[in-house]
Amino acid sequence: ATDKQIEDLIAKMTVEEKVGQMTQLTIDVILKGNEVATVDTAKLRNVLVNYNVGSILNVRNRAYTIDEWHTVLNAIHDVTDKTRLKIPVIYGIDAIHGNNYLAGTTLYPHNIGMAATRNPELVNRLAQITALETRAAGLPWNFDPVLDVGRQPLWPRFEETFGEDVFVVKTMGAAAIRGYEQNGKGPDFTVASCMKHFLGYSYPSTGKDRTPSYIPEQMLREIFLPPFKAAVEAGASTVMINSGEINGVPVHGSKYYLTQILRNELGFEGVAVSDWEDVIRLHTRHKVAATPKEAVRMSVEAGLDMSMVPTDFSFYDHLVALVKEGTISEDRINLSVRRILTLKKKLGLFEQVRPKAALKNTIHKPEFDQVSLQSALESLTLLKNNNNVLPLKKTGKIVVAGPTANTLAALHGSWSYIWQGTDETQYPTKAKTVVQGLIAEIGKDRVISRSVADFANAANYNVAQLKRDAAQAQAIVLCLGEKAYAESPGVIDDLDLEENQLALVRAAKETGKPVIIVLLEGRPRVLSSVEPLADAVLMAYRPATFGAAAIADVLFGDYNPDGVLPFTYPRFSGDVLTYDHKGTEIIREDIPNAAGNRGFNPQWPFGHGLSYTTFAFSDLRVNKTTFSNNDNLQVTVKVRNTGSKAGKKAVELYSHDQFASITPAARRLRAFSKVSLQPGEEKEVSFTISAKDLAFVNEAGKWVTEPGAFDLMVGDQKTTVTLQ
Ligand code: IFM
Repeated sequence: ATDKQIEDLIAKMTVEEKVGQMTQLTIDVILKGNEVATVDTAKLRNVLVNYNVGSILNVRNRAYTIDEWHTVLNAIHDVTDKTRLKIPVIYGIDAIHGNNYLAGTTLYPHNIGMAATRNPELVNRLAQITALETRAAGLPWNFDPVLDVGRQPLWPRFEETFGEDVFVVKTMGAAAIRGYEQNGKGPDFTVASCMKHFLGYSYPSTGKDRTPSYIPEQMLREIFLPPFKAAVEAGASTVMINSGEINGVPVHGSKYYLTQILRNELGFEGVAVSDWEDVIRLHTRHKVAATPKEAVRMSVEAGLDMSMVPTDFSFYDHLVALVKEGTISEDRINLSVRRILTLKKKLGLFEQVRPKAALKNTIHKPEFDQVSLQSALESLTLLKNNNNVLPLKKTGKIVVAGPTANTLAALHGSWSYIWQGTDETQYPTKAKTVVQGLIAEIGKDRVISRSVADFANAANYNVAQLKRDAAQAQAIVLCLGEKAYAESPGVIDDLDLEENQLALVRAAKETGKPVIIVLLEGRPRVLSSVEPLADAVLMAYRPATFGAAAIADVLFGDYNPDGVLPFTYPRFSGDVLTYDHKGTEIIREDIPNAAGNRGFNPQWPFGHGLSYTTFAFSDLRVNKTTFSNNDNLQVTVKVRNTGSKAGKKAVELYSHDQFASITPAARRLRAFSKVSLQPGEEKEVSFTISAKDLAFVNEAGKWVTEPGAFDLMVGDQKTTVTLQ
């Protein structure tokens, strides 16, 4: 249905005003000189009055305080008020794990850790908090969530994904979208979400950011597309496009991806924005457009609504010319302008675009800290715990060493107060390093951290000191992993953990004291050569502000860990496979895996995560053993806490199609639910799935079910059902 207010506006707009709405510039173009947050009114007038620019993004150099945000945004809206049509500017930022561009804000674990929680309610809650803190700053548009499926661990943005499994990504992604969009709760609680990066961004064949993906259509539709479909259904308002190319086709210039799939198949009606500078890169990098103007034509005809230009007026100038000369019709740009104005209206910007002073005191609430701590706790994944070396005793000393022991950046990762997260001066005092977190837990006298070295000095670990210190300690906690990075600065050539970190493990082992490895990393870094030397391994991902407190709670038993891996942890760099690999994917004929089978032998499998208690499954049942395409299947299983501590268990239902016309996956996750159990307690967990949930994409690119037998598995339980 058309909206009269918007149609009246479009009827009044000149071509220039329309193209201005489709233009997004970075804040740098309106800031005074090198100032961080002071708007230059002359530059702003040029941008908004002469070029009618409809959207601005980003921050410069650091997170802004709420007052700075209000001042910057009010300056923008003051100028918009003087434009002919007074169309409000929509400001967008990357609030990726909390409102990371608001100074002092609590941050939350990156998506990779949130996926380990298997708790979509938590994901939803933190999206709600982020929406509130973003909107309170006056910012109505958040470029999140990342819906790219993390199946290439070399990729530097792996930590921003919900991991390798399509069902986890789509469940968590939709929970985030609902949390941001807050339908019905009103503008003060709502931001426009942005599903990104459509489509196939996370699977570059070399692992390097923004490099080509080669993805068969069948895989594209079965693995990479479903999270976007679920996000559209969950009410996503906007989408950002993949900077890369699929099978030689840059997505920014592809009508097939941007119109056929996104609009016609998924039914998406919101705004499609480019990624940074990507329109012009159709010419400068991808070389599919012979001129910059041709690049603009190509992207707009493909279906793009807004270009994140972001520093000049080239997109604007070329698009105005293309429309005036008749190469692009005014109807075509009206379509995009209609979508952009509809978004602005939906967000309430026509009535209230200015930040509300009253919302300043809705931010930084103590309960947000609790959600962050809870998220970190539920994300931590205990990968190994030989002889129950964990939890540690609160009496006695511990030695803490390693490059991630005393850095906030490694705990937080990318998009933390600045893009790379590397400026430690910006972190609020409530954020603690692992060393500080352990001191808070057991006291200064019990934590020996003299041999901590940072990444820059990694060659200088004081191993002799480490050995002397270990003599007085019950255990050594080695904090390993990765420094903070994002996108291209996070490029690596090898998944192996650096040699100096491996050497540190060997040195620690020589002391004879238990060695506990804590991994702060955004992707699985291979450590198989030293893993046998470790008594325990705790995967912490990027747990953020309260990550250190959570690590201390788990190491000392105040919290019983319940996170489970959202990816397959490879044993070798050249042995990277997802859990839903094909049955024929035998990696090594000569080495049997732990189960005695020849085949896939990861360091730790997808879904792996230990607890300080034990759980047992029994009595897996289905309400019918044969079913048809229109039936629902009810699957129930009993799970009992057979140990002596209360704990939570992520109960996961997998299926395996015994025979299919496209070689079936070894198994596929179809449902999960997290249950809390006291010692000795048993609960029945029930899942409802339909035949559609067992479908796959066939050779023709269509979702189909085929009659036949399916194994259903939960824990060590298995049953078989037949689709008629
Ligand atoms: O939203 C981001 C995107 O994920 C990477 N390029 C820049 C955009 C805006 O900051």
